[in-house]
Amino acid sequence: MDMKIIKGGSSTVAKSCYRAGDALVFELQLRQAKKIVGYAYEMPLPDYIVADEPGQPEFERRSTLQLLAVQDGKTVVLGPAHSDMERIQTVGDGAFAHWKEPLPEGPFGTSKLHFSTPGNVDLLLGWKLRKAISQLRAVVFPLSPRMGFVEFVHKPNKKAKDYDPTKRRRRKEIHRELFFQTFPTLGVEPHLADRPQDTLPGVAYLWRASHHDEFNFDLQPEEVFEKRMPYAFAEFFGSFEQTGAVLYPPPACYKYYENKVALTELFQGAHVQMPMTWVFRNLADAMARKAEVQLPVVIKDPYGYSSIGLLQAETTSELTEALKEFFSKAKPGVEALVQKKVQALREARVTYVDGRPFHGYWRIRQSLKSASAASTRGGYQDFNFPLAELAPFIASFANKTGVPVGGVDLIWQEKNPDLHKEPFTLEVSPTSDINPPSPPDWKEGYAEFKHTKGFRNAYIGIRRKWAEAMALAVVDRWA
Ligand SMILES: Nc1ncnc2c1ncn2[C@@H]1O[C@H](COP(=O)(O)OP(=O)(O)O)[C@@H](O)[C@H]1O
Ligand SMILES: [Mg+2]
Repeated sequence: MDMKIIKGGSSTVAKSCYRAGDALVFELQLRQAKKIVGYAYEMPLPDYIVADEPGQPEFERRSTLQLLAVQDGKTVVLGPAHSDMERIQTVGDGAFAHWKEPLPEGPFGTSKLHFSTPGNVDLLLGWKLRKAISQLRAVVFPLSPRMGFVEFVHKPNKKAKDYDPTKRRRRKEIHRELFFQTFPTLGVEPHLADRPQDTLPGVAYLWRASHHDEFNFDLQPEEVFEKRMPYAFAEFFGSFEQTGAVLYPPPACYKYYENKVALTELFQGAHVQMPMTWVFRNLADAMARKAEVQLPVVIKDPYGYSSIGLLQAETTSELTEALKEFFSKAKPGVEALVQKKVQALREARVTYVDGRPFHGYWRIRQSLKSASAASTRGGYQDFNFPLAELAPFIASFANKTGVPVGGVDLIWQEKNPDLHKEPFTLEVSPTSDINPPSPPDWKEGYAEFKHTKGFRNAYIGIRRKWAEAMALAVVDRWA
């Protein structure tokens, strides 16, 4: 079923697409062109083709698209490319621009071609005339570096209580397939590597792991799985780079995955604003230093996720009790992360690709008293989110932390925060699962939306967009 949706692909405006040498050639559907103003026509283009992104420094003129028309049986080259709308409308004569809505406008940005015809002949009526245009052809030179894909075969832990032989594998297969649908649109034949020694120097490999239980490794007797896991992850995928290959996203970022101790050090070192935080190694350490703590606080398991095991304390005695409770349940060696509780009137999760926000939503808590806005705590989501306004913050965050791809949890003390000021960052996860927005008029919970007919399509659709954004990030970095 999912494979059917993926293979069905996005609807395309091209009659056909084929390779000619290093170029991709799209035969466009003339009847998709609409006259807009003056000499200007507009038509949609497949949005995975690298296009100009107006207003985005460094991305403004990155389309390599050449436009050809077959007119009166002869092929004519149109131009100039990257023309502004004014020129296309008033001068025309082949001037065109190929652009897309910038990534920070959200995951559903589309690509368009604004163009004019040679001699400004009427495209739609022209067929009656001798100067008729019978075909429009777009030629794109993918400026892609050599790319690959790390195939990582999950070995399920059959002893796990919730062992489901297909669940994780299914999710991996979906992402794999989405990447494999994306590579040809960039003109790329990926090199596949499933062992570290198989990667090739100079090749940029995409890879994706979406949950810790997709990853198995052997533990030393004194090691705690949760503590070791992020480093084991980073080391294992890092070993694919030993041949001189590069992996994207950088495997080293996985040491921060579900690891709030390492994240706290990262944020403090990089001067990222986070709530005041204390890390206690054990109960004795906590009792010795608890006077430093400024109340109220939340107490977290640094290797937890989805708000599992989150405690709160408002008074000194509550703090003592909570720390005792924490350490009585924690595995040996697991620290307590005590963090000043911010009265958060706004919370958000933003997923970004190469420092550019891609997807975001507000998280609404059930009440200010509740420890968390997680959906497991009665929280819900609002997808009406001003993604583009957070773009400068996200760019600086990715740059300061060196985590180019991820999902960040942000909180603000104001109900209507100034989004140009730095929020409090709680955490960043190098892997972030994105859910498609529920329809704007959706009144029920997200769980109900998941059971609607269109959900699977939307779910796969947004992940395809993410795979495209990841592949384009590799093109931008290494081409
Ligand atoms: N210092 C804090 N102040 C206020 N709310 C917090 C604080 N820390 C966590 N929360 C709430 O708890 C949720 C979970 O915390 P987070 O640090 O993101 O851990 P995780 O998502 O891994 O469980 C946050 O999304 C937020 O709603
Ligand atoms: Mg979180």
